[in-house]
Amino acid sequence: MKLWQGRFKLNTSGLVEEFTSSLDFDRRLYAYDIKGSMAHVKMLAKCDIITEKEAAEIEEGLSEIYRDIEADAFDFDPADEDIHMAIECALIDKIGTVGGKLHTARSRNDQVALDVRMYLKDEMKSIMNLIIELQRVLIELALNNLDVIIPGLTHFQHAQPVLLSHHLMAYFFMLERDFDRLKDCRYRTDSMPLGSGALAGTVFPIDRYFVAEELGFSKVSENSLDSVSDRDFIVEFLAAASLIMVHLSRLSEELIVWSSFEFDFIELGDDFTTGSSIMPQKKNPDVAELVRGKSGRVFGDLLNLLTTLKSLPLAYNRDLQEDKEALFDGADTVKACLNIYAAMLGSIRIKPERMRASAEKGFLTATDVADYLTDKGLPFRDSHKTVGEMVAYCIEKSITLGQLKLKELKKFSPLFEEDVLSLISVETSVDRRDSFGGTSRSSVIKEIEIAQKMLEEEKIYLA
Ligand code: ARG
Repeated sequence: MKLWQGRFKLNTSGLVEEFTSSLDFDRRLYAYDIKGSMAHVKMLAKCDIITEKEAAEIEEGLSEIYRDIEADAFDFDPADEDIHMAIECALIDKIGTVGGKLHTARSRNDQVALDVRMYLKDEMKSIMNLIIELQRVLIELALNNLDVIIPGLTHFQHAQPVLLSHHLMAYFFMLERDFDRLKDCRYRTDSMPLGSGALAGTVFPIDRYFVAEELGFSKVSENSLDSVSDRDFIVEFLAAASLIMVHLSRLSEELIVWSSFEFDFIELGDDFTTGSSIMPQKKNPDVAELVRGKSGRVFGDLLNLLTTLKSLPLAYNRDLQEDKEALFDGADTVKACLNIYAAMLGSIRIKPERMRASAEKGFLTATDVADYLTDKGLPFRDSHKTVGEMVAYCIEKSITLGQLKLKELKKFSPLFEEDVLSLISVETSVDRRDSFGGTSRSSVIKEIEIAQKMLEEEKIYLA
């Protein structure tokens, strides 16, 4: 019999039971559900709403249920609508009618809001730890390849030479913002909704601050209608998760391109690539491709929830049960991707000579030559035009800017002197860009030092 059977003459149709049940996916919340119930029961006894003896019996029953589920010895009955009902029914089966007192001054509406917040607070912590690990690997790779030069691209065309370490650190700072966004979302998730009842609060003299304290929440929600229907924190999380996936997907794209035959900048480890069932020569970057592909799932999860929420009147509506699969999928996906990424990056073999050779091509130092003329007094637009003509000349002769002799240079502009020759080297080009946040060796060392400090602060936040 259902715990809410009282007002019904007919039993629920099997079709409805199957259609409305969330047990298949929300059973993973069991530990939070039980922890939340334990705190609730303690509070009920402290506020003299139930006796200490009743509370002790309920707590004992809940502990047993927890042990049963952990030991895979709990019989989940599909007729129980959700994890909350399953646990409550099992409690009443175990300890008798006193088990029915657990749900005093509580509704499943505030209960599920509590469970999901507890779950997400923990998940965000795990994700933040995974971000830290990936950031650590990025710093390590940057430090091990500090002086390697690659062609920097805009519009996917050779632009100016940059250090590989600078390029890698760009991803560190993307992840830094991701960490910060989760921190911010965690702040709003950290609000305790229990005690809001079904929608209007409760007549019992409860102590919501006690429950918050017991469960490690720093705030108590202020409005019962909002508390039972607010899922903004899940939207925020899925938006933050989506951006993490954007970042991983962009990095994936680079790794895929860099490991292609045409680029040949890196080789991914044998242990992080897969072969082809038909082409014996293949070594495919499947992990990077799957991460790029899985980004779509997480964006979908975000849109799924936004759509579910957009027309809901206050307060709780059963539509909200649809929040969980999107949330679980988003959290699982982002965790799996971050986890494998840290390991995969560690398996990369960098090919500095290939990168360097590529940076010699495509007139990457043309801007430096134009800057040189501008430095000598030529308006930048005129310098730009002169160097453009030099590039066209080089293309015709199939030579690089560096192969031009001073005599030839002077034909383009009398302002050229001996000292321009050193400027044409990619090393000089990189090293002269020593503005804060630029690609020179000293600037990159500075940004890595800043990154290391950020990493330490992140660790302190999570400790
Ligand atoms: N399984 C429900 C959910 O996930 C729990 C709350 C149900 N409340 C209700 N009044 N039917 O949203």
